[in-house]
Amino acid sequence: MESLNMKMIRAVMIIAVLGILSQLGSCKVVQFIFGDSLSDVGNNEKLAKSAARASLPWYGIDFGDGLPNGRFSNGRTVADIIGDHIGLPRPPAFLDPSLTEDKILENGVNFASGGGGILNETGGLFIQRFCLYKQIELFRGTQELIRRKIGAEEAAKFFEGANYVVALGSNDFINNYLQPVYSDSWKYTDATFIDYLMGTLENQLKLLHSLGARQLVVFGLGPIGCIPLQRILSSSGGCQERTNKLALSFNKASAKLVNDLSRSLPNATYQFGDAYDVVADVIANPNKYGFNNSDSPCCSLGGIRPAILCLPLSTLCANRSTYVFWDEYHPSDRANEMIAKEIIRKLGFLYTNSTSNGSPSPSPAEAPARSTPEAPTEAPARSTPEAPTESPSSDD
Ligand SMILES: *[C@@H]1O[C@H](CO)[C@@H](O)[C@H](O)[C@H]1NC(C)=O
Ligand SMILES: *[C@@H]1O[C@H](CO)[C@@H](O)[C@H](O)[C@H]1NC(C)=O
Ligand SMILES: *[C@@H]1O[C@H](CO)[C@@H](O)[C@H](O)[C@H]1NC(C)=O
Ligand SMILES: *[C@@H]1O[C@H](CO)[C@@H](O)[C@H](O)[C@H]1NC(C)=O
Ligand SMILES: *[C@@H]1O[C@H](CO)[C@@H](O)[C@H](O)[C@H]1NC(C)=O
Repeated sequence: MESLNMKMIRAVMIIAVLGILSQLGSCKVVQFIFGDSLSDVGNNEKLAKSAARASLPWYGIDFGDGLPNGRFSNGRTVADIIGDHIGLPRPPAFLDPSLTEDKILENGVNFASGGGGILNETGGLFIQRFCLYKQIELFRGTQELIRRKIGAEEAAKFFEGANYVVALGSNDFINNYLQPVYSDSWKYTDATFIDYLMGTLENQLKLLHSLGARQLVVFGLGPIGCIPLQRILSSSGGCQERTNKLALSFNKASAKLVNDLSRSLPNATYQFGDAYDVVADVIANPNKYGFNNSDSPCCSLGGIRPAILCLPLSTLCANRSTYVFWDEYHPSDRANEMIAKEIIRKLGFLYTNSTSNGSPSPSPAEAPARSTPEAPTEAPARSTPEAPTESPSSDD
């Protein structure tokens, strides 16, 4: 006769074994992010020779501990906000020195790099950046590491179960086609350049599919002719209409490409999401949305414009939530939130909480920047998905 104690021990052991088996059988759903400075969470910060790095104050002032964290914004990126909404962990930067196979299996990886484009030649003036092909090459290396760690079969399941974001294109115009120093500006016309971009993006999306990407979202472009840098370069101070037209053509062509691929590639759910119209309306009617400036950067160096990046010497606007743009190129946290919400609405993303241990960790209270030399490697998540945007801390 088995004693009650033995029965209990056996029961506990069976439960423990079942627990381990269920963990082995189902990898976590994570994200792999490919992008430019709008999605970079620290890759360029580690590229010593890059001329596009968000490594100095006041970048990150409204994020976690307020130190620069590699994001080209005062707060969160659009991908941060969408991932939080879906309930997925925020993937660390590929160049994060603390990245390990275990971290990749728990959180995914973010390959986005400021200055990067769909085209290899885009952003050449920034010297160092990962273009999309390079990001995919780094992803292949990551896959090899994971295969060695958990075996080919489990790895294939892991990568097929993951979510993918591809968010590039702004630099292919702003830091390539529209600048005469780049040869693409005279080799192509508007129409042939868009065709060239689409042909390249099609190959890249097919390549990602061949590597296992099944659930993938491509972000479209906003009205990039209205970023402060474009306005200051126009004689009237208004938006550059030609640039906006190019962004609209890009969006139209990539929406079609993504929808076609979603139909033709086996088991693919590829979606296209953009927030062009909402952002254009915010820029035209900032007051309607609680903004009060939509044409200049919140962070600026007195009257010296364009200052390209936000610098420690720069001064900040009084209320960072009332500015659509954080610097000459990049939207503020609050504008990113509007963009993210629009994409979430359009694509019908639901909160799934697919992670077993609830990903968005509670945010630390906002604190003034400290002078600790090394920022923590894990970007601290800062708000629960439904939390309203924090009001900036140290303004007014
Ligand atoms: C683009 O760069 C990748 C490496 O990052 C290289 O393999 C590829 O051949 C390049 N493509 C072109 C068209 O230059
Ligand atoms: C598509 O999904 C089915 C069912 O899960 C699977 O058997 C098949 O191998 C998949 N095909 C590809 C190309 O992933
Ligand atoms: C800053 O602006 C936001 C958005 O308009 C507003 O909700 C908030 O109250 C403002 N904060 C301060 C301190 O004025
Ligand atoms: C921005 O807000 C300030 C202070 O509330 C106000 O004086 C100013 O007119 C506003 N500007 C715009 C463009 O809404
Ligand atoms: C997500 O799921 C986990 C485990 O079921 C739960 O503990 C956690 O509270 C959930 N998170 C949210 C934000 O609902």
